Amino acid sequence: MTLNITDEHGRRVDYLRVSVTDRCNLKCEYCRPPSSGQPPSSGQPLSSGQPPAPCHMVKFKDLLRLVQVFASLGVRKFRVTGGEPLVRKGVLSFIRQVKQTPGVEQVALTTNGVFLADMAAPLREAGVGVINISLDSLRPERYAAITGGDLFHQARAGIDAAMGAGFEAVKINMVVMRGVNDDEVADFARLTMSNKLQVRFIEYMPATPSTWSREKFMTMDQVMERVGALGALAPENKARWGGPAKIYKLEGAMGEVGFISPVTTHFCAACNRLRLTAGGSLLTCLFSTDRLELEPMLTNGASDEQLAQAIASHARIKPAVRDMETYSRDMDKSMIKVGG
Ligand code: 5AD
Repeated sequence: MTLNITDEHGRRVDYLRVSVTDRCNLKCEYCRPPSSGQPPSSGQPLSSGQPPAPCHMVKFKDLLRLVQVFASLGVRKFRVTGGEPLVRKGVLSFIRQVKQTPGVEQVALTTNGVFLADMAAPLREAGVGVINISLDSLRPERYAAITGGDLFHQARAGIDAAMGAGFEAVKINMVVMRGVNDDEVADFARLTMSNKLQVRFIEYMPATPSTWSREKFMTMDQVMERVGALGALAPENKARWGGPAKIYKLEGAMGEVGFISPVTTHFCAACNRLRLTAGGSLLTCLFSTDRLELEPMLTNGASDEQLAQAIASHARIKPAVRDMETYSRDMDKSMIKVGG
């Protein structure tokens, strides 16, 4: 019998975001709280002499077992996130095994792209279908100011490698911040004219309340207006794993633009996802405060059935609507920990 997770509000849960590490080689202020305890990064890979960050990570072997349990519960899409997932050793082989797990249909990856020049082809070969790359500026100096890493050219080369590697889709995520990078919205949209990319504009969420400000916030309506000034925008049909983005194509474009408005609208009614942190906590919502700690269950020898039961009953209490307020008051949370 195939089990499904259906929550108390009738939503079928079939998508899990798996963070494989809290560590990142960049330090974008919208993602990492100033107090996260990690040393400022020189922008170099963390293996180059930096002390390890104080982050406990579930072993890949155990994560794979969890992936199998989730797949047995009808979860079909897995997204590997972080931190920066590509800084964790062994991630390629983990991804390959996730893709080979019975029931798994789609494996996606979110990355900052810095290591993709070398890793794009192996990731594709390992089974990644869709790749999302964070890029918030096309100007090297501004990129360095936003990310704390002088690595624009590496990220750009990574995007080129990804476009050449045969993924089903290559998506660029731009968090739009007024006065920081909003003057580049048109430049990002223009990338879709001659590249088979999906450029996704995302509202700046108050995930790190100490650095977020209303002045820097821009609504997706405002962003869409700027993109619409470039040409006619035709809505695109959503694919199977469409997600919350509203997708359009600029007239004559090869690629697409997407608009994601987690602040001004919410997509809770159609939410199909769960999140697993690198430390093994299961969250039912990006903004949830309830966690199910799975690692102690693994350590205590829980059976697959016990794990499945615990996961399914935790998922059932997925909140009907996210609670961004409560979340934002807790300064210790941040995207870097819950898998941006
Ligand atoms: N607001 C909006 N998007 C965010 N992300 C991380 N933090 C935020 C935030 N505060 C998303 C971005 C980034 C990905 C890793 O997570 O899309 O590309």
